[in-house]
Amino acid sequence: MTTVPAEELTGEKIVGLCRRHTIFEWSAQAAVDPIPVARAKGVHFWTPEGKRFIDFNSQLMCVNIGHGDLRVIRAIQEQAATLAYANPFMATDVRARLGAKLAELTPGDIDVFFFTNGGAEANENAIRIARMFSGRHKIGARYRSYHGGTAGAITATGDPRRWASEPGLPGVFRIPDFYHGIQQGWDSAAEVLLRTEEVLMMEGPQTIAGIIVEPVVGTNGVLVPPDGYMQGLRKLCDKYGILLIADEVMSGFGRTGEWFAVEHWKVVPDLISMAKGLTSAYVQLGAVGMRREIAEHFQKNVFYGGLTYNSHPLACAAALATIAVYEEDGLIENARRLGKVLSEQLQALQQRHRSVGATRNIGLFGIVELVRDSKTREPLAPFNGTSPEMQALGKFFRQEGLYTFVRWNTFFTNPPLCITEAELTEAFAIIDKGLEITDLAVK
Ligand SMILES: Cc1ncc(COP(=O)(O)O)c(C=O)c1O
Repeated sequence: MTTVPAEELTGEKIVGLCRRHTIFEWSAQAAVDPIPVARAKGVHFWTPEGKRFIDFNSQLMCVNIGHGDLRVIRAIQEQAATLAYANPFMATDVRARLGAKLAELTPGDIDVFFFTNGGAEANENAIRIARMFSGRHKIGARYRSYHGGTAGAITATGDPRRWASEPGLPGVFRIPDFYHGIQQGWDSAAEVLLRTEEVLMMEGPQTIAGIIVEPVVGTNGVLVPPDGYMQGLRKLCDKYGILLIADEVMSGFGRTGEWFAVEHWKVVPDLISMAKGLTSAYVQLGAVGMRREIAEHFQKNVFYGGLTYNSHPLACAAALATIAVYEEDGLIENARRLGKVLSEQLQALQQRHRSVGATRNIGLFGIVELVRDSKTREPLAPFNGTSPEMQALGKFFRQEGLYTFVRWNTFFTNPPLCITEAELTEAFAIIDKGLEITDLAVK
C-alpha cells in the first residue's frame, strides 16, 4: 500500500504514483517516462513546477481548439449543474441539438448519428452497422492504419498494435496500401486501385460488408492519398455494394483544413466515425454518422448496439460548445491558412537538414521522416523500433519545452488549430536546433 500525502503533489511524486499504480498504454511499464502535467491554456501546458511546453501534438491530435477554452468549460459546468446524466433511452436538449448540428456539418446525406465514448467504439459500431445493413460479414482495411483498441477496431488496425490481439475478429482482410515507407515510396492511385479490386475479387465482393480507411492516415504517417484514390475507392464500393467507412477520428474537425478530410476529394462515405476533435477531448465522445438510406434500415430493424454513456449530456454539451468555437474563431480557415505556413516551414527544414528525408502536411496535420543515409534513404529508426538518435531528438524536444509525438523514424507537427504564426515559428526554432543532433548520424 502507498500512503498518498495530503499536500499538493510534486511532479516527481505524481509520476512515481502513476507509474506504481496505473498502467500506461502501448508500453512496457519500465520504459515509460511521462511528463507530469498540471494545467494547460491555448497551445501550452505546464508541469506542477511551472515548466512550460508548447503542445505541438494537441496532446493526442485531439485538443484541436486549444486548451482551457472558457466557452467549453462553462458549457460543461452548466450542463453538469442542469443534467449531468440521462440514460440513452431518454431524449435530451443537448443530444437533440448535437445530432442536428452534426447533420449540418457532415458530408452529403449523412444525417443520423450514434454516440459513443470515443473513436474505437465509433469504429466498432461502424463495423456492426455495415454488417447489419448489408447482411455480409467481411471488412477490408489497410496495414498502415489505426482504428482503435477494442476488439473489432484493433483487428481492423493494420499497425503493430494489432499483434497482441490476434486472431481478433473473423472476416477482416487487408486491402493494399499506397505508401510503402520512405525507401519504397508511393503507388499511383491507378496502381493501388487495380490491386484493391483484385483483392476484392479474391475475397468475393458479395461477402464484403465494408471497407474502413482513414482518409488521411494519422499515426501511421500522415499519409495523404494520391489524387483519385478516395474517388476510386468510392467507385469500387459502389460497384460491389460495399459500404465505405471513413475513419475521421483524427482527420476530422478541421485538422486537415476542412471539417472532414473526405471533403478534399468530394467523397461522401456511407459511414463516418469521429471522436477527438468533436469535443477537443474536453469530455470523451465519439460518434458514427450514417447516410439516410442506412438510417432508414433501422426504422424497422433493431439497432443492436448500446452503451451506458451513449449521448452523455456532458459530452454532448462539450461537443456543441467546441463546434461553436471552431465556427466563431474560424479555426477551420486558420488550419487551412497556417497549413501553408507549416508546409513552408517543413520544406525549409528539408533544405537545411540532411537527416530530413521527407515531410508531409495537409492543413495542420504534419510529419517529418528522418533518414540516416541520404542516398539509400535508410530510416533513422527501423519499423516499429527506435534508435539512439531518435531518442536523443525526443529528449532534446522535451528539454526545450516542445511536446510532440516521436514515433519510429518520424515526429509529428500537429498543433492546436488556434496556433498563431509566431507560435509556429517558435516551435520550428526548437525543431531546427534539434535536427542538428540527427544530422550528425547521416552518412
Ligand atoms: C484514426 C483513428 N481511429 C480511431 C482511433 C481510436 O480512438 P479512441 O482512442 O478515442 O478510441 C484513433 C485514436 O488515435 C485514431 O487515430
